[in-house]
Amino acid sequence: MGGFAISLLVGWCVPAGAEPAHRAATGIDDLAPAETRAVLALGPWPVPVPPDPGNRVSGHPQAIELGRQLFRDPRMSPVAYIACVTCHQPDRAFTDIKARAHGLADLPRNTPTLANLRLQRWYGWGGGSDSLWMASIKPILDAREFDGNAQLVRRLFVREPALAACYRQVFGVSPLRGDAQRTVLDVGKALAAFVETLTTGRTPFDEFRDALARGDASAAAAYPPRALRGLKLFVGSAGCVACHVGANFSDGEFHPGVAMGGAMGGVAREAAGDRGRLDDAHALRASGFNLLGAGNDDASRRNAAATRRLVPHEGLRGRYRTPSLRNAAVTAPYFHDGRSDRLLDAVQHTQRVTLDEAADLAAFVATLTDAHGARRPWDSSGLQRCP
Ligand code: HEC
Ligand code: HEC
Repeated sequence: MGGFAISLLVGWCVPAGAEPAHRAATGIDDLAPAETRAVLALGPWPVPVPPDPGNRVSGHPQAIELGRQLFRDPRMSPVAYIACVTCHQPDRAFTDIKARAHGLADLPRNTPTLANLRLQRWYGWGGGSDSLWMASIKPILDAREFDGNAQLVRRLFVREPALAACYRQVFGVSPLRGDAQRTVLDVGKALAAFVETLTTGRTPFDEFRDALARGDASAAAAYPPRALRGLKLFVGSAGCVACHVGANFSDGEFHPGVAMGGAMGGVAREAAGDRGRLDDAHALRASGFNLLGAGNDDASRRNAAATRRLVPHEGLRGRYRTPSLRNAAVTAPYFHDGRSDRLLDAVQHTQRVTLDEAADLAAFVATLTDAHGARRPWDSSGLQRCP
């Protein structure tokens, strides 16, 4: 950790004038026109997103409130101590500090943060889900996570009449009536409505980017010189924007993961049986909870086009979705298998750079951290705003 912390301090605290003249990068005048264009394309932030057409309760305040309650409730698991918050912890940027998740058993993958997910279209490292509600149902049914089932989901509402009343208000039917699978589906929709609200705020980088858009040199000058050097590498010779592109720093697509080699790999260290996008594309196509199934609330099925076109093939083996880099500085360990503890190492996964350049890249990524950092706002109060 030492190298990273020290380099960051240097980047943030030493005035530009104190740096060696040949390395100084002082502000917007230092950016070539092509660099300026590339930087502007990394914003603006935040990005407005419409409600999810596949989830009829997306954006509904009462569904969000029901989802917030369900997110922290451990009673859908038979052991009654596993909840979403067990792994997606609000005071750790909705991740945990483990390399790989552990619920009732070990999982092969790192727990990702849950921020800004409406900007993605595939969910999970390998895109095993094509909607947020599918990704929210999965852990409830997975034996390694909640090990829940439809009966346990219903039992929660039997025990908690206020939650059942809230569910009725949101979905228009009792959670205890009709097909129990439908209750599970709707629980996923309420959870997804809540997860959609988890977004990150503006960051020092966004201030710099907007100052650049306005041509405001004095506002741009507040941006740390080391981060600016990292940014120039990021949009330039280091090639990061080939994948970490747009305002969310992710193309949402699947690329060879760290176990495949590249700068971090060397010897392939594929976590036992994890074939990334290849396995997850198969699982997605086979699942009854995908957008091609009856759970999709978009009658036009336009939102299912990518799932319909998806054909699992060998070329998808070992690929993972490009993670967003917003708040990445506070979500170590890194990568799908959590192999890397330090941002200083993680920024070099496609290309080895000098230690100085790695520190510049890490300083840049650190300016993608919002005011809340790891400790996301979290309302832990009991059920509200539902009848
Ligand atoms: C045992 C730890 C654990 C628990 C409990 C857990 N998750 Fe996760 N979550 C993970 C891991 C690991 C992944 C990555 C899964 C993958 O790559 O297939 C993930 C992925 C996700 C994603 C996709 C994120 C992305 O970047 O695409 C969502 C959404 C999500 N979880 C929501 C939930 C909800 C809602 C709950 C509660 C019902 C929950 N999780 C419970 C560990 C957990
Ligand atoms: C070819 C596409 C591609 C390029 C180019 C690329 N990345 Fe990535 N990045 C990914 C993918 C995919 C992952 C996840 C890999 C895995 O988990 O196995 C990732 C992961 C990361 C992570 C870890 C994030 C986390 O939450 O775990 C960081 C940090 C990162 N990249 C920074 C960079 C930087 C800095 C550059 C430029 C030097 C760069 N990346 C270039 C696709 C890319």
